[in-house]
Amino acid sequence: MHMISESYPTWLEIDLGAIQNNIHQIQQITGGPVMAVVKANGYGHGLVQVGKAAETAGAPWLAVARLEEALDLRRAGIKCHILVLGYTMPERIPEVLASKVTLTVYDQAIANEYAAQARFFNQRLPIHVKVDSGMGRLGFSPEDGIESIRQLSELEGLSIDGIFTHLACADEPDQPNTNWQLEHFQGLLEGLDAVGLKPTMVHAANSAGALYFPKARYDIVRCGIAIYGLHPSAAAPLPEGFRRALTWKSHIVSVKSLPKGSGVGYNYKYVTQKEERIGVVSGGYADGLRRRLGNYALVHGQRVSMVGGMCMDQCMVQLDNLPDVKVGDEVVFIGRQGDEEITPEVLASEWGSNNYEVVCGLAGRLPRLFVR
Ligand SMILES: Cc1ncc(COP(=O)(O)O)c(C=O)c1O
Repeated sequence: MHMISESYPTWLEIDLGAIQNNIHQIQQITGGPVMAVVKANGYGHGLVQVGKAAETAGAPWLAVARLEEALDLRRAGIKCHILVLGYTMPERIPEVLASKVTLTVYDQAIANEYAAQARFFNQRLPIHVKVDSGMGRLGFSPEDGIESIRQLSELEGLSIDGIFTHLACADEPDQPNTNWQLEHFQGLLEGLDAVGLKPTMVHAANSAGALYFPKARYDIVRCGIAIYGLHPSAAAPLPEGFRRALTWKSHIVSVKSLPKGSGVGYNYKYVTQKEERIGVVSGGYADGLRRRLGNYALVHGQRVSMVGGMCMDQCMVQLDNLPDVKVGDEVVFIGRQGDEEITPEVLASEWGSNNYEVVCGLAGRLPRLFVR
């Protein structure tokens, strides 16, 4: 990693080389291609730069949740296939066609509207059909799958290029649910094959599915969390060889001694017990920290407690054990400093959340510095 500018109060460092390494790791493990899931601003890492890094690493597909994300990728020059996983309004079909994006279809009435729009422009809209094999979210039921796909295939204006499902519990590999879902899905695929309706491209696995359920790999794996070097769960950790891509850094922006009995922050959630050294750090709940007590950060390679309530843009740390800390010193919210490390997984467990929510919650306003 080369030297980067530190001219921001707080910023993210994103190691695109780590993301490419992680995609290569998945390609090696699964022996097949990766659809890189870059929705939600690349899980907080930066949509366009992660998309470009994934494309360069050989991912033939990117997946996003919304059309706007796909259009941003196209505007940035991304050429590979893009699948929109979520709902797209039928009135957006002209933009979809113009930008050569593939949509997910999970509902006959919406599909009819898509097809009508595409016919109006004398084109065929590329779609992947979504099957709800047990997630309880979007998708045709496997029981009605053959009939649903038959009806879709009769719609002029649609090109059924793929079929997929999503796994609800792949990050709990010991639970039987994933095998049950995959059996359901496989049953439908065999039924479709028998009547000549099986789409050419099949996918099912998220990161945990790709790593822990080889039979879920089909033609491509749809990986999000693993490409960022983050564990799908404690029960489904990443194997050796993956690297976390994200570090969140900040600066001490003020240091002062407050006399005994001073309130710190809104509503005086903390009152000094004696004269105390309090540092102010750039970064608050509007950046992705949580408005709760008990947070900490790394300064001079040591954990320091955040005191007082979390503010929108700033937080305060107790520096009594670090008399040398001064304005401009580096603070780490996520990542390593010296021998200490704060991982998204540890923050998640303290915040009653998961690592997905921690990184997706990193605000768009945080500058992202990309290194390789
Ligand atoms: C439909 C779909 N596929 C794939 C993924 C990627 O999942 P993961 O980040 O666990 O790899 C997601 C993420 O939420 C998703 O919604």
